[in-house]
Amino acid sequence: MTEQRTWGGRFEGGMDELTRDYTAGMDRDFWAHDIIGSVAHARMLGHQGIIPSSEADAIVAGLALVLEDFHAGRVTWRPELEDIHTHVEVLLREKIGDAAGRLHTARSRNDQVALLNRMVVREACDIARESLTELVAVLCDLGDRHAADPMPGYTHVQRAQPVTLGHHLLAYGEMLLRDRERFDDCRTRTNVLPLGAGALAGSPYPLDRAMVAEELGFDSVSRNSMDATADRDFVAEYAAACAITQVHLSRFAEDIVLWASAEYGFVTLPDGFATGSSIMPQKKNADVAELARGRAGRVIGELVGILTTMKGLPMTYNRDLQEDKAYILGASNVVLPTLRIFAAMVPALGFNLERMREAAGQSYALATDIADYLVKKGLPFRSAHEVVGGLVREAERRRCELNELPLEVYRAGSDLFAADVLEISVDSALAARDIPGGTAPRQVRLAAAQLRAALG
Ligand code: ARG
Repeated sequence: MTEQRTWGGRFEGGMDELTRDYTAGMDRDFWAHDIIGSVAHARMLGHQGIIPSSEADAIVAGLALVLEDFHAGRVTWRPELEDIHTHVEVLLREKIGDAAGRLHTARSRNDQVALLNRMVVREACDIARESLTELVAVLCDLGDRHAADPMPGYTHVQRAQPVTLGHHLLAYGEMLLRDRERFDDCRTRTNVLPLGAGALAGSPYPLDRAMVAEELGFDSVSRNSMDATADRDFVAEYAAACAITQVHLSRFAEDIVLWASAEYGFVTLPDGFATGSSIMPQKKNADVAELARGRAGRVIGELVGILTTMKGLPMTYNRDLQEDKAYILGASNVVLPTLRIFAAMVPALGFNLERMREAAGQSYALATDIADYLVKKGLPFRSAHEVVGGLVREAERRRCELNELPLEVYRAGSDLFAADVLEISVDSALAARDIPGGTAPRQVRLAAAQLRAALG
């Protein structure tokens, strides 16, 4: 068999199978990216007269055939060919013969793999953006629909003040919109062409890098060949954007788990998104949410992984960097399906609006509003806080809610109280928070519209 390795010239012995398997990468699905990059490179080589244009044409035509073979599933992976770059080159040689040998002119696998990874991350950012857009749109709709439906707002998992369900859901909408911005930012910094950096020092050929950048949709070309081949910060940024997104989703997931419990009773899980217990027939578990929460650990792991791989790595390319694809794939494989299933599951949740409204008014959740009542009548907030604290103590003693205390009890606390204090309600508490960012139904509807506009 003729030598198929692209670097076998200085070797006498073959590679041990253990080495072959140990050094195998995870790039075999990226044939399209690799071929598209090679087509642009070959065209430019021909255009610049670096290789004869007839051979450039033959390479481009041959690569189209290789691409077809991959598309049709006609390519069997050959472990001895190490990576996707070598596969493509060897397959090309099988199509067009020796002219294939000119494709790698003025290129190293080091800038080639940097190109491929940037193309992969760029695309992953676009997919994440699309999935985030879909989920945030769902949250805008729900936020609007439930703009006036009260629920308890929590701090420390204690009922704190009434909010609306719409306000609560839109909080996640805002977080996820920022996540989308993070993917956009990552894409911008990723979208710089590394090809032309060569192995590390640049290329002695008169490359037209701008031409390649243009053809491949890159905004600019790298200014430093060592940076271009050595760094994977764009992978770390991608993993970070994924990790933050998944952490947001894990908090949302935790809410869903709590809301679906009998203790909260706020949500009925749709059958399609719940699982049962093999022993307890009554159980309906929020496994989707739990896995979304649990898998945040994996995505955070991918982020820590790529950072750890890069830490202390000497300039420039080192084989360690091959691991980067595992981190990209690992992060994508959690975040994208989670976004997709949330976009389907969240609108299918059966919100128990009655129960949420009832809970919103319990547990002295209107205490702050009663203090604010006194403030409006001139009492400093600290003193008002003290007075209402006394009322809460009294209500606890009588085992009743604040609005069930007789007016005399209020007036014993402060003679600023009049009968209208008993009109303070969940709805008045909501309506009162009528400033931008507040939970008044009017503001929530406005915020939903603004978020939808920001979504574009
Ligand atoms: N498979 C390698 C990777 O993904 C390609 C670059 C290999 N370069 C080298 N000098 N061994 O990183």
